[in-house]
Amino acid sequence: MPPPHSEPYLSANERHPERSLQFDFVRATENAALSAVAWLGRGDKESADSAASDAIRGTLEQSDFCGEVVIGEGIKDNAPGIFLGEKIGSWKFPSPRFNIAVDPIDGTTNISKGLPNSISVMAAAHVPHGAAAAMVNIPTFYSEKLAYGPDVVAAMARDASLRFTLDTPVAQILERVATALGKNAHQVYVVVLDRPRHAKLIAEIRAAGAALRLISDGDVTAAVSPSLHDTGIDLYLGTGGSPEGVLTAAGVLALGGDQQLRMWPRDDAERAEIKASPAAADLGRIYYAKDLITSPSAIFCATGISDSALLPGVRLIGRKVITHSILMRSQSRTLRYIKTVHDLDFKTVRRSPDRKDHYV
Ligand code: FBP
Repeated sequence: MPPPHSEPYLSANERHPERSLQFDFVRATENAALSAVAWLGRGDKESADSAASDAIRGTLEQSDFCGEVVIGEGIKDNAPGIFLGEKIGSWKFPSPRFNIAVDPIDGTTNISKGLPNSISVMAAAHVPHGAAAAMVNIPTFYSEKLAYGPDVVAAMARDASLRFTLDTPVAQILERVATALGKNAHQVYVVVLDRPRHAKLIAEIRAAGAALRLISDGDVTAAVSPSLHDTGIDLYLGTGGSPEGVLTAAGVLALGGDQQLRMWPRDDAERAEIKASPAAADLGRIYYAKDLITSPSAIFCATGISDSALLPGVRLIGRKVITHSILMRSQSRTLRYIKTVHDLDFKTVRRSPDRKDHYV
């Protein structure tokens, strides 16, 4: 007899198709990482991005779902990649529909220079029957972002005096985060992208006495990290890519953390463009993670390419390659760390241009 609450009877995988498909998504970021690492330190970010993108497309065309890329490259740069509006998955009828956010490599410059902090990352949100979309695309190139973990979310829910937004002065944000975490101000670790546009922010963080970790690239790892207990990072602050912000939203949602995000037009031309578009009404809006990922059935996965606070990078040991991935599902809040050993004598990756399997 089916359980009384589910008439007509649907299996867990039918109700939440991401529950089984999530493993195909992590297989895709693993294959992207394995393909991209061949370009580590070779000064060629385009080839790295292209290898990772081909691996994701090729891997996922073997999976039965209808994926529409709603957050992809194209906004941020003109490099090869997986683009907004692209279809991925097999598109076999009838397959579940997903909105996809993907960055085949977050930290392409890091890969090209052989630096740490690059991952391959995806988020997928099931679009329920009758719904138009399950993720929100932010049209500006950059957004202001502020990301924090579940303990800070809980403290803000409990105590109104600990709440803050993107408009709260930085010193107060740091003070409230310190209180929420039971720390002294100098024990609060903040990550910021090392950019001239952050000069004032960096000075304010230092003046407030917090510990600062500047990163050269790759703010998805930085913004998801405060939601994990073992990264040593409490807060991510600053202005970075909008697509990365939507990816981050899927990650923090599944971990009980949060992110505040607001469009940040990079120049007058972009501001005018947004003002003339339907997005004008949302120009000053602060989006929380749940405003960006609107379906309860979402996953986030990432595989380390080079070492980061979130994940170790790809390790080559003899004829074996080890990858480390993180996989989370918002419905169940399950967090999986997946260590995979690939055998180079057997492992192949399906690549999109010729739709053939290639040895890594
Ligand atoms: P890509 O590797 O996908 O190009 O992005 C790297 C990155 O550092 C992001 O993590 C970040 O959001 C964005 O670039 C910041 O943009 P910019 O380098 O223009 O400041």
